[in-house]
Formats: sequence, structure tokens, C-alpha cells
Amino acid sequence: MLTRLIPSTGEAMPVIGLGTWRAFDRDSGETGKGPLREVLQLLLDVGGRIIDTSPMYGWAEAVTGDLLAQLGARPRSFLATKVWTTGRERGIEQMERSTQLLGTGVIDLIQIHNLVDWRTHLATLRRMKEEGRVRYIGITHYTTGALPELARILRAEPGIDFVQFGYSLATRTAETELLPTALERGVAVIVTQPLERGDLLRRVRGRPFPDWAREFECTSWAQLFLKYIIAEPAVTCVIPATGNPDHMKDNLAGGFGTLPEGCRLQRIREMWDAL
Ligand SMILES: NC(=O)c1ccc[n+]([C@@H]2O[C@H](COP(=O)([O-])OP(=O)(O)OC[C@H]3O[C@@H](n4cnc5c(N)ncnc54)[C@H](OP(=O)(O)O)[C@@H]3O)[C@@H](O)[C@H]2O)c1
Repeated sequence: MLTRLIPSTGEAMPVIGLGTWRAFDRDSGETGKGPLREVLQLLLDVGGRIIDTSPMYGWAEAVTGDLLAQLGARPRSFLATKVWTTGRERGIEQMERSTQLLGTGVIDLIQIHNLVDWRTHLATLRRMKEEGRVRYIGITHYTTGALPELARILRAEPGIDFVQFGYSLATRTAETELLPTALERGVAVIVTQPLERGDLLRRVRGRPFPDWAREFECTSWAQLFLKYIIAEPAVTCVIPATGNPDHMKDNLAGGFGTLPEGCRLQRIREMWDAL
């Protein structure tokens, strides 16, 4: 799979990862978890690494931890979770619980979810990083209205390794509001909601797939939407969520081969805007 370097360390990150919101929030025993185990296996088999979760996502951290243990795959994965509470002590407690649920000694990346009480958690995370209890620190937000605030924090606060936010062919605000700052500050970018929770695929349902997209090795709409994002140089990886192994295979294929550039990117934008 194509990789990008995490600017703060130079560690390689495969461009397609996995989101777990809703998809991994299952308390349904083995039957419900079978397809999820397959989704993880598919990701890891092609060299994918990043799995993004949060204490906000119900059972998702516990399910991710259990399945990775079953697969013996913790060493091959890059675990990203979040802290989503107020107060120093509650934050520490929540991060300790995530560490247990994910079945790991050290979480790769802990992000401050939706900037909740971010100053408090940033101080804790800096200490944890110094002590080797977390490898990377990040901040996230899910609204486009918060992109300027994320950019302001990246400019003001040293030591933030990752920023996570929504960006898709339909919502391109980040192209002007945040991606240039991330590139300039050397902060890795994780793109969430690349399919707008599936809305992009519903919008093109029944429409013929454009032949010209095969020029940059896309054979499905999902791959086209993901390659549009990965083509952006500031993007480190994208984390579409799925609990469906066929969808995972489709998404992973978006991490291979040529990427669209220049006039091809323009053609993708024009096609979308004309829908
Ligand atoms: N503030 C934050 O930090 C924040 C906010 C939002 C999201 N996130 C993270 O970003 C991840 C991704 O965002 P998201 O879950 O909101 O939305 P998304 O990845 O844009 O879309 C997920 C939806 O698309 C469907 N899908 C995925 N691949 C598909 C394919 N190839 N063909 C057809 N349908 C497909 C999935 O259904 P199936 O399961 O049926 O495939 C699911 O309903 C989240 O899971 C979470 O980890 C973080």
C-alpha cells in the first residue's frame, strides 16, 4: 500500500486505515464479530495499520482490543484512540481504561476528541509522551466550523503530532482552512468521514462509473472518493469506517496504484459539483 511519513518522526503510515464508529460498536457475541475480525484481517494482510476508535464509540474499543488479541495482531497495528471527557483525573482514568480495553501497554496515538477540555488533556498527554506511555499526541474535531480553531492550536502549541478532521469530495473546506497549516507545521493528518457516513455512495447510486477514473486505477466510486483525498500531499491517511469485508476490500484498493493529479483532480471536482 502507498505510505506517507508521519512528519514528527519519519515513521511510515499506510494511507488507508479503518474507522470504528458505529461499525465496531457491537455487543453481539461471536456472530456479530466474525465480519469485523475479517475486516481487521484484510486491513493487516495488505500492510494497513491504523485503526481509529474512541471511548465515545460504545463497545468499539473493547471489540477492537478483543479481535486484535485473537488475531495476535497488536504489533502490526497502529492504535489510535481519544480522550473525551473533562478534568485531569477523569481524563487519566479514561485513557487508562482505553489502554486496558485495547489490550496494549502503550497506545500509539491518543487524540483530544472534539477539543473537549483540550488544554487540560494536552498537558497530561505531553507528560505521558515524555514517560513513554503514548507514542503520539493528536487533536480532532468533526465540524468544519472548528477547522480554524484546530489550525490556531497547531500554530500555537508545539508537540502535536496529528490532527484529525472531516474532509471529502463534498466538503472541501479543509483544503483552504487547515491542510496548508498542517503541512507547514509538520503535523500528520488523519481524514475522517471521507464518505460522509456513506452519503457520497448513496448520492452516486445507479450512476455509471466514469471510464476516465480508470486512468488512475480506480474501479469503484469508493476508491475514487478515497483517492481524491489521498492525492492531497498534506494527508497522511484516511480512515473510512466499515463492518463489511467487501467494503473493506474495496476501500483498501484505493490505497494502491496511481493517484489523480492536476487536471484529473479538477475533473473529479467538476463531476461532483455537477451531480
Ligand atoms: N471527531 C472525530 O474525531 C471523528 C468524527 C467522526 C468520525 N471519526 C472517525 O472517522 C471514522 C470514519 O468516519 P465515519 O464513520 O463517520 O464515516 P465514513 O467513513 O465516511 O462512512 C462510513 C459509512 O460508509 C459505509 N461504507 C464504508 N465503505 C464503503 C464502501 N466501500 N461501499 C459502501 N459503503 C461503504 C459504511 O457502511 P458499512 O459498514 O456497511 O460498510 C458506513 O456506513 C469513524 O469511524 C471514526 O473512527 C472521528
